[in-house]
Amino acid sequence: MPRYNDYDFSLLENVPIVKADSPANSIYKEETLLTVEVGCGNGHFLTAQAAAHPDNTFCGIDLKSERIVRCMQKVRAAALENIRFIVGDAMLALDKCFADGQIARIYMTFPDPWPKKRHHKNRLFKPEFLDIVWNKLKVGGDFVFITDHEEYFEWSKAFAESDSRWDITFCGAIGENDDREYLTQSLFGEKWKREERDFYLLEFTKK
Ligand SMILES: C[S@@+](CC[C@H](N)C(=O)[O-])C[C@H]1O[C@@H](n2cnc3c(N)ncnc32)[C@H](O)[C@@H]1O
Repeated sequence: MPRYNDYDFSLLENVPIVKADSPANSIYKEETLLTVEVGCGNGHFLTAQAAAHPDNTFCGIDLKSERIVRCMQKVRAAALENIRFIVGDAMLALDKCFADGQIARIYMTFPDPWPKKRHHKNRLFKPEFLDIVWNKLKVGGDFVFITDHEEYFEWSKAFAESDSRWDITFCGAIGENDDREYLTQSLFGEKWKREERDFYLLEFTKK
């Protein structure tokens, strides 16, 4: 387990930290084909996407600054110029840092499932979150959510299905040879693969 001193926080020099009282600021409004990951963790998935798609721009959001330090180490090691990060709560950061209708795709890979019923309120996926996601996506933009937690998947699916603003384009388990398998290439995805867990995917498009 790394200690706090093991993190080079100077890497966060140009990384915005968004809090409840931060001013609204559409800092990325000039970006094209913007792809965002909420709860990006140590950045394995999003930095790989940025390296594979140099013409697209990417932004990762995570609550924990030490995780964003890990992301910035990957950015530096691969000399990536098309990816940025924000430290903060995903709902606040989406709301404050992006213009409405700006984002092409939002990923949520392996969010904390908060399995106990009394903790469900802590889940990122909830109607208020979906409202912000809908506002920030462009028409035809999509939201991609992958989890190993079947109950969290079913819970989220019920919200999405009852919301007529979306076209659901994929909803179910994904197998090993599925071409969406790239979605599992994150720190937690790799961990759950080693434990041979099943993966559930929910993908929907803003009408
Ligand atoms: C289980 S980890 C998954 C990380 C990464 N997506 C992966 O698949 O390896 C969940 C991540 O979501 C972040 N997180 C939890 N709640 C959040 C919130 N409200 N806003 C932004 N990030 C959040 C945590 O700090 C953590 O890094």
